[in-house]
Amino acid sequence: MTSVATATAPSNIAFIKYWGARDLERAVPFHPSISMTLRRCWTMTTVAFEPVAEQRDEVVVVDEGGARRPAGAEFRARVCRQLDRLREEAGTRGRFIVATRNSFPAGTGLASSASGFAALTLAAAKAVGLELPPERLSSLARSSGSGSAARSVLGGYVEWPARPDLSARQLAAASHWDLRDVIAVVEEDPKAVPSLEGHRRAPTSPYFETRLRLLPERLRLVREAIARRSLDLLGPALEEEAIELHLVAMSSRPPAFYWKPGTVRVLEAVRTMREDGCEAWATLDAGANVHVVCAPRWEAWVQRELARLPEVRRLILDGVGEGPRYESEHLL
Ligand code: PMV
Repeated sequence: MTSVATATAPSNIAFIKYWGARDLERAVPFHPSISMTLRRCWTMTTVAFEPVAEQRDEVVVVDEGGARRPAGAEFRARVCRQLDRLREEAGTRGRFIVATRNSFPAGTGLASSASGFAALTLAAAKAVGLELPPERLSSLARSSGSGSAARSVLGGYVEWPARPDLSARQLAAASHWDLRDVIAVVEEDPKAVPSLEGHRRAPTSPYFETRLRLLPERLRLVREAIARRSLDLLGPALEEEAIELHLVAMSSRPPAFYWKPGTVRVLEAVRTMREDGCEAWATLDAGANVHVVCAPRWEAWVQRELARLPEVRRLILDGVGEGPRYESEHLL
């Protein structure tokens, strides 16, 4: 008998970034990372499981307008490898059919692999009849090779420790601190260097070792900022961390450049906003698009200022979210 499950998992924005891996295949990081789970940027994935002898899985991508197409070869291969892990975890044989849809452009540094592999893992686990605690789901999501997916299994503020045996854990629930994230989309085309390749190159940067030395203090600061709900503490750490990720990326061998002219314009606009009294701070993952983090009272100001920039193609008004959920409607 076929069983079907659908999960929606949000993306997340890293306050402390996972960049560079001790073991890239299994996504074992050099250091802990911390993120805020979002609510508007999500992936919805339906998985149907048929316990049949034939094991050829099918993967369909549903675009923003609802059109369906078979997944590209590389993405399909990553999905199928993750489905193999789920089959192994459940000790079963059978065939999966997957349909997946993003609420935002994929591959542009908005962590579509985090939401994508979290949603896939949750839906496939349910479809295959596994009832697993969040820790196990987090570590299964991570084994997809997308480390940030380990964090998207949980809501609110999340830390993923660096030890391979540990899954992500929640530092604070979404209700603890209502932070907003105005995402300035300046580029909708997929980035030239995928994150996996960026991780591979990171340790070749002469600044990577320096980054490892600076991180323990920054991690401490970010944990404290979250506990105390202090944007004064969080903001500067957030910007430093984002610039450092890109410093390492740009100085890797070969280098990975993610910024576009619009990125620089938005970063400049955020500095100007702060000079005018608006408490907003910028960060960006491995891509050109900028996340501007602020308290609710500054959201409209940030939105107005960023909307003026010709380089900004669209704004996504996001914020801290509660984490993934199962749905009763399916994409298949
Ligand atoms: O999880 P991956 O392999 O897609 O890498 C994520 C990399 C960053 O988004 C730049 C940082 C992070 O911690 O999310």
